[in-house]
Amino acid sequence: MPVSKLLEIEGLESGFDTEGGLVRAVDGVSFELEKGRTLGIVGESGCGKTVSAMSIVDLLPKPAGRVLGGRISFKGQELRDADPEVMYKTRGNEIGVIFQEPMTALNPVQRVGKQITEALLLHKDVSKREALQHAVELLDAVGIPSPERRISDHPHELSGGMRQRVMIAIALCCDPDLLIADEPTTALDVTVQAQILDLMSKMQKERGMATLLITHDLGVIAEQCDEVVVMYAGRIVERAPVKELFAKPKHAYTKGLLASIPRLTNERKTELRTIPGQVASIQEFVSGCRFCQRMERGGDTLNTRPRYEEVEPGRFLETCPACT
Ligand SMILES: Nc1ncnc2c1ncn2[C@@H]1O[C@H](COP(=O)(O)OP(=O)(O)O)[C@@H](O)[C@H]1O
Ligand SMILES: [Mg+2]
Repeated sequence: MPVSKLLEIEGLESGFDTEGGLVRAVDGVSFELEKGRTLGIVGESGCGKTVSAMSIVDLLPKPAGRVLGGRISFKGQELRDADPEVMYKTRGNEIGVIFQEPMTALNPVQRVGKQITEALLLHKDVSKREALQHAVELLDAVGIPSPERRISDHPHELSGGMRQRVMIAIALCCDPDLLIADEPTTALDVTVQAQILDLMSKMQKERGMATLLITHDLGVIAEQCDEVVVMYAGRIVERAPVKELFAKPKHAYTKGLLASIPRLTNERKTELRTIPGQVASIQEFVSGCRFCQRMERGGDTLNTRPRYEEVEPGRFLETCPACT
């Protein structure tokens, strides 16, 4: 039997029932993630990163949001439409999740210690005392000073950076094999952002877990990831090892994203280019190449969906003739 990947997503389609009908926010997304590796998902706001991540752990807002098609396999087990027991035992235990804004993910009226021990007591065979002891150790591990005292704090008594550390402690408390981190540092200022990313790398190395890191920031991708998936308008346009993507981007959208990173030129002036136009609204998505739609190219490319294929070993591309 071939060794299965930790996470395999194949042809994932997810959408929402709206007043105007069903909208498809994620439209045929496929990728794999191996044990201990970090895969980044990058793309502008609204391209379907969060919906992809939430589909994996069955956290789409119900009843409007649902997975419409595809396979989600974790450690060889199908998670889509699995028995509720399976997701119950997986999420928060084998898969840890960190969100962008801890204030909405943390319970405002519950002490942080309780929120950590709750997950432990739910999934692991430990006593309350042991769970509390483990919670103190975790807060210490994520760099929260005086953890014995902090354990009794409510979320609002902590700074944004400290709250995000608590979220990491909760996500890691059951020693997951996979961490899904959706814009974990976007709401934080730059220095705290760097500290949190360092902490995540350290924890990942120590524990050998894999990470699915979602961000709109290519700088974060360059620092943290082994491989990257570039999403545009609900689809993957390019997937590559990080170094190769930065050295030799192939899709016009990836090139545009890279060109929009501010950099100092020889004249020491900051050069910043933006991608013209904007992402079409989800109701206006075409069946063909959606980046051509943005570039207002017209013609055949708008009707025929470009093939998404492995163009070199390890490099996948949506092969629209106008974009590659
Ligand atoms: N609850 C919802 N109802 C309807 N549409 C939604 C909902 N949540 C997200 N969407 C749509 O799904 C698309 C993808 O959103 P999202 O995955 O959050 O983007 P990203 O995380 O890449 O910024 C967007 O067009 C958004 O408008
Ligand atoms: Mg998002």
